[in-house]
Amino acid sequence: MTAEKTDIPGKVQIRRQMRSARRNLSRSFRRQASIGLLRSLDQSPQFRSARRIAVYLTNDSEIDTSFFIRTLQKRNKTLLLPVLHPLRKGHLSFLPYHSGSPMTTNRFGIAEPDFRRLKAVPASFISVICMPLVAFDESGNRLGMGGGFYDRTLAFMHRPGQRPSLIGCAYELQKMPALPAEPWDIPLNAIATEQKLHRF
Ligand SMILES: Nc1ncnc2c1ncn2[C@@H]1O[C@H](COP(=O)(O)OP(=O)(O)OP(=O)(O)O)[C@@H](O)[C@H]1O
Ligand SMILES: [Mg+2]
Repeated sequence: MTAEKTDIPGKVQIRRQMRSARRNLSRSFRRQASIGLLRSLDQSPQFRSARRIAVYLTNDSEIDTSFFIRTLQKRNKTLLLPVLHPLRKGHLSFLPYHSGSPMTTNRFGIAEPDFRRLKAVPASFISVICMPLVAFDESGNRLGMGGGFYDRTLAFMHRPGQRPSLIGCAYELQKMPALPAEPWDIPLNAIATEQKLHRF
């Protein structure tokens, strides 16, 4: 999900550096990290007790979510995946994801449940949303791929009301001392890495 033309150069550079660092990780490190990621997520009481959890399928050498997704299926959680909303440009919609979900491929080449055949769940009804990121900082700021998809979809969180707990998933090496936070950026409640759960 890239659309970097309106970015300040700092963000473009950080994205390039972090994506390249991620790509250089070995297969055995990735495999171990996917197990560490679940251990860190399980440190979150919200995650442990959630009934509905939005997850994402790994893309672009992001930390591998397949291990924790399989575990959540065994725990009988209701899982959702983000899909690009076909009408609301730049927004995501969350659709049920289980072994029988009809899937398609979106314009970024990412597998997603079929919007035409499944009923979306409003983001405010989801207990925990696990999301990918390119970089994070010590205050819970998140830098994504630059499409603004999660920020637009979660803009309702600027107002009071029922809200999901947001957990970023990343490798520890994606941590930066500070990131530029824009007014539209939605800060995260926690970030789970292969090493630990960072709480904010
Ligand atoms: N709530 C919003 N309403 C309208 N435009 C928005 C909103 N949030 C973000 N945008 C637009 O999206 C663009 C990209 O935002 P940003 O750089 O924060 O992306 P990102 O968080 O890295 O991406 P993503 O969430 O897709 O991983 C910005 O230029 C901004 O104009
Ligand atoms: Mg953002």
